[in-house]
Amino acid sequence: MTDQLIIFDTTLRDGEQSPGASMTRDEKLRIARQLERLRVDVIEAGFAASSNGDFEAVKAIADHIKESTVCSLARANDRDISRAAEALKGAPRARIHTFIATSELHMEKKLRMTRDQVFEQAKQAVRFARNLAGDIEFSPEDGYRSDPDFLCWVLEAVINEGATTVNIPDTVGYAVPELYGEFIRSLRERIPNSDKAVWSVHCHNDLGMAVANSLAGVKIGGARQIECTINGLGERAGNCSLEEVVMAVKTRKDHFGLTLAIDTSQIVPASRMVSQTTGFVVQPNKAVVGANAFAHASGIHQDGVLKARDTYEIMRAEDVGWSANKIVLGKLSGRNAFRQRLQELGVDLDSEAEVNAAFARFKDLADRKSDIFDEDIIALVSDESVTSEQEHYRLLALSQHSETGERPQASVVFTAGGVEHKASSHGNGPVDASLKAIESRLKTGAELLLYSVNAITSGSTESQGEVTVRLQHGGRVVNGVGADPDIVVASAKAYLSALNKLHSKLERVAAQG
Ligand code: KIV
Ligand code: ZN
Repeated sequence: MTDQLIIFDTTLRDGEQSPGASMTRDEKLRIARQLERLRVDVIEAGFAASSNGDFEAVKAIADHIKESTVCSLARANDRDISRAAEALKGAPRARIHTFIATSELHMEKKLRMTRDQVFEQAKQAVRFARNLAGDIEFSPEDGYRSDPDFLCWVLEAVINEGATTVNIPDTVGYAVPELYGEFIRSLRERIPNSDKAVWSVHCHNDLGMAVANSLAGVKIGGARQIECTINGLGERAGNCSLEEVVMAVKTRKDHFGLTLAIDTSQIVPASRMVSQTTGFVVQPNKAVVGANAFAHASGIHQDGVLKARDTYEIMRAEDVGWSANKIVLGKLSGRNAFRQRLQELGVDLDSEAEVNAAFARFKDLADRKSDIFDEDIIALVSDESVTSEQEHYRLLALSQHSETGERPQASVVFTAGGVEHKASSHGNGPVDASLKAIESRLKTGAELLLYSVNAITSGSTESQGEVTVRLQHGGRVVNGVGADPDIVVASAKAYLSALNKLHSKLERVAAQG
């Protein structure tokens, strides 16, 4: 058995299944480039058959990513698998990941299929996929809650058909570490051809044990691939968090004895990019990537760290990329410097018009904010009005008045489908007044599920405010993100960005994971 642990990142597929986290093709490509810089072994880029948008995103990633393997999910049927293969054509290293549920509950209630039918369909799917690609992963969905005898039968058959990786999902986050580790060990021991495939773990975090379970799957079970997401992004309580498993394996090499290809200095930039793009804010006390993860507040700890760092620190902040937070550009920076920084950040703006629009915004921001950080640039290009020609709503101007003892009032000027609107409203605060003003004119009826404000770069009130607004309407949930030094303006931008997403009626087939 090899000592190399494969890191399979599924931020762009399983992570994207979080309500409101869906990303555009360009956003996915930007994150894929960061994942490549992070040197993840496999990037699960999406679920090509789920929608035209996801097909295009997988294709763009397959066409651009050279170092990591690019993977697409596919249900166990010929159409999904062909779509995945088609989208992956341009990738130097491509993987098709096909899955079908194997637990009694899922087979009976969801698929309405017998064991024999599921067995045959799994075999057929892998055989079909094997004719289209050399690297095939098979997942028995809800594998951890499946009957081990049935699972052995299915897994032995798919390995015979040519599956090169077999993955054991704990789809509903039910496992506990020792039992999950033993489960995988027993499958590997019982299946005669188990050594012909790499074993993989895929854990959801419903009981807060996704990282512990994944590590047990490796240590006890002998798995050599971990499926995970940046910031643990994923539906419900999320997936196994990449930064946590990676730093656990690295920091406790004495225990795990495994090597990783990951460039850990790219972890924090990846975390920031995913959080800014999806609007899923990272909690301050989150391990490795939370703003407080390396902050020592107590006097005793500070004193200890100053005398000898390792008294209270088991990892160095700079090793996971915290020092990457540097001033990059300012008011006097020119177009070429801006363009070069975009390239270094992996941002590809398709047309000269987009570069011009982004540069104009950069200049505007630099007039109001002296130091521009990488995070500011990412926020700037994440702004839909720079990257999307289909933007329907756009903020033009906002003024607001608030004074102690007075009821705040706001006036907002924006366009909807190119037509200019002006609306005013009172509210409990200036943010409330601004959003009410927009709603009073548009009457969308969207329900506000979440509103949060975050400083883009920590430690200073000069930072831009980054606002996330989550809206629900007609059964869809979307996140809008807006950034500006003025948080009232950032809030209006975030609200309009969420409305833009509701307006673009992109629908997709949900992955069953
Ligand atoms: O959680 C799950 O079962 C999945 C599979 C599709 C791998 O995401
Ligand atoms: Zn999953």
